[in-house]
Formats: sequence, structure tokens, C-alpha cells
Amino acid sequence: RSSLVIAIDGPAGAGKSTVAKLLASRLGYLYLDTGALYRALAWKTKRASVASDDEAAVERLLATTLLEVRHQDGERMRVSVDGQDITDDLRAPDTSALASVISSLPAVREWLLPVQRKIAERGAVVAEGRDVGTRVFPAADVKFFLEATPEVRAQRRFRELAASGGPVSLEDTARDLVARDTRDRTRALAPLVPAPDALTIDTSNLDIEQVLQRMLAAVSAKL
Ligand code: C5P
Repeated sequence: RSSLVIAIDGPAGAGKSTVAKLLASRLGYLYLDTGALYRALAWKTKRASVASDDEAAVERLLATTLLEVRHQDGERMRVSVDGQDITDDLRAPDTSALASVISSLPAVREWLLPVQRKIAERGAVVAEGRDVGTRVFPAADVKFFLEATPEVRAQRRFRELAASGGPVSLEDTARDLVARDTRDRTRALAPLVPAPDALTIDTSNLDIEQVLQRMLAAVSAKL
């Protein structure tokens, strides 16, 4: 493999997307948001009224699904399903929950593996997700695992959803986040765990620039 990969894993609200985009932009790498791919498949499952626990039906749906990723500039990633750009629909809370449910289906994870690896063939990437450093890119050049307390993560996610105009409460946000996390950490296939060679950063008491500085220091020490 010739292209560089920086892998960032961690639970929702740990700050992965924010710092992954900034890191990609500072380094001139492509930003690969793997969660958006799970969300896109969740969107299609819902649109097709396929039950999320009916793996055979989801698998049939995947057989006729065209998932495309386009980078406008390095850090902005647009996702199309069957030719329709659905990027702006992917962050809704029900899509988050459904993405977490279908992401435990082996058929879904298997289907997305080559999709993710193909994108990394386009050039150096900062890839963000749950199993990027453990499964998708086990030979990634630098691996990070971002953590934060459940309270801090719920606050961050709540502010983000409120800013985009969603009618949400902190309680609902916190409950959804814990449910999604528990599912992600306990599923049989590719659960959310730090790779043995990942640098863990607890972002609870750090601002974005502080997290970014630590990551940049680790990257320049390794590359
Ligand atoms: O990162 P994001 O919150 O967009 O991810 C949505 C969901 O997709 C996660 O809760 C997780 O269940 C799933 N996911 C995954 N593996 C990844 C990225 C996301 O299982 N690499």
C-alpha cells in the first residue's frame, strides 16, 4: 500500500469529525468520514422500507446500491446513493440511530470494506470512524483513539444538533448517545475498541486546537 493513512476512532461526540477535518486540511490529505457511509446505507434502508434487522433483505438492497464519494476540496466529503447526493440528510438523529443498528450486520460491514479502502487509493487520507485503525486500515501509519466523558460528549452533540436547528433536548441526545455507544462497543463484529498501537487522547478538558496540536506532534514524530 502506498498511500498514507491516519486513522481516528472513538465514540460519538469525542471530537473526531472536527479534528479529522482540520487535520486533513492542515496536512493536505483527503478526509474520509466512514460514519457517513453507514449513514448513507441507513438512509437507503429506511427509504426502501427494509427492516433493519432483516439481514437478507438488507443484503439484497446492497446488491443494487451504488455508493459514491466525492471530495470537493480535501476536507469536504459528499456522498451519493444511486446518483442522488444525500450528504445534507445524513446527520438527522434517526439516521444516526439506524446507522448504528445496521452497522452491526456483517453484510453491511463486509460491503463497506472495499468501498473504504478504494477511497484511500485516491491519496493520503485522514479516516475517521469506529474500526478504521483496527479493521479497515490495520496498517495505518498513525492511529488515534479519541475519548471523552459521556457528559461532555452529550453536551457537544446537543450543541451541534441545536445549532443545525433540530428540535432536540439534552436528555434525548444523551440517551441516544449512550444507546449507540453501547451497541458500537458490544457488537460481535468490529466493535469500538482502541487499536493496540493507537494513541488515546481524552478530549474532555481539551479544546480543538489542543487536540489538534497533540495529533500533529504525534504525526510528525511518526512520519
Ligand atoms: O461516526 P458517525 O456517528 O457518523 O457513525 C454513525 C454510526 O455508524 C456509528 O454509531 C456506528 O454504529 C457506525 N459506524 C461504524 N463503523 C465506522 C463508522 C461508523 O460502525 N467505521
